[in-house]
Amino acid sequence: MSESKPRIFSGMQPTGTLHIGNYLGALRNWTQIQYDYEPIFCVVDLHAITLYQDPAELREAIDRTAALYIAAGIDPEHSAVFVQSQIAGHVELSWIFTCCTPLGWLNRMTQFKAKSEKQKQESVGTGLLAYPVLMAADILLYQAKIVPVGEDQSQHLELTRNIAERFNHLYGDTFVVPETRLPAVGARIMGLDDPTQKMSKSSENPNHAVSMLEAPSRIKKLFGRAVTDSNPAVDYETMGDGVKNLLAIYQAFSGDANDRMRAEFEGMRYGDLKKRVTEITVAKLEPIQAKYHELMADRGELHALLARSADRIRPWAEETVQLAKRRTGLFVN
Ligand code: TYM
Repeated sequence: MSESKPRIFSGMQPTGTLHIGNYLGALRNWTQIQYDYEPIFCVVDLHAITLYQDPAELREAIDRTAALYIAAGIDPEHSAVFVQSQIAGHVELSWIFTCCTPLGWLNRMTQFKAKSEKQKQESVGTGLLAYPVLMAADILLYQAKIVPVGEDQSQHLELTRNIAERFNHLYGDTFVVPETRLPAVGARIMGLDDPTQKMSKSSENPNHAVSMLEAPSRIKKLFGRAVTDSNPAVDYETMGDGVKNLLAIYQAFSGDANDRMRAEFEGMRYGDLKKRVTEITVAKLEPIQAKYHELMADRGELHALLARSADRIRPWAEETVQLAKRRTGLFVN
């Protein structure tokens, strides 16, 4: 573990159970690049409460998300794995940034528009609007250079860069301006019921997403029902979004090159394609699920591990908060 390596930061919301979009778009990428960096992986519980969460379910989802990080291959001896609310600096820095973020920047965020449309804007918590500022604080608190995420977070990352630059401009060079890192394949996995919508945890359709903890028989059913198109078999020239998505899921799991994919799947009937996608998904998720259940069986050890990570990196957060406070003229002891 070398302090001289650049830091990476990323996080996921502990709502429901992570799905294969979260895994292929972000988590698997984290496991692959972790040893090249000083990695920090956070369970962002403060983000989750921007929409009401049942407290007991939230508490459980925090453990579930942390356990899935480790089960998927995040090495807690190397990478920091912790929960956002364990480190107060996220909220402290977030307030400082809230005060230098123009309201117009937040009003433009498409995720806010989409999520607040579901509820009436008037009744939505202010946190939902301020959410991208907290996200900027998460990243800049650790002076992270690289942020590995799926494509849907690109706009939030752009805002993070804008906030860093604005603060640096107002108060002098303080924050590293981070870069977005998308995976080569799998950056945007679509819903199985509707391949024009990205796979998300909040869909009400039970045929929409494949959770990382899904049983093999259910995975088979979900892919069996996945929307394709009016062709009977894969045609690379005319295929629709549903077939593209199934191929992307296979390719993201297998790591096969484009030409190998085409040689293998061109002309394959959809029934066989779905069978192949099911097989690879089950094979890749099974060992993760086994490790997950082991980790969840010993909550004491899981919580101790989160505490060790948080204790190790808290000084990094405190250093940044002190610096930001000094730069802005706030009282520092
Ligand atoms: P969240 O919890 O919605 O998603 C976690 C990660 O999964 C990726 N992802 C996807 N990738 C591909 N296809 C999909 N269908 C798909 N759905 C989700 C997301 O891009 C993300 O990388 N705001 C963030 C959490 C966050 C964060 C941060 C991330 C808070 N602070 C700081 C990075 C750095 C979010 O809600 O992700």
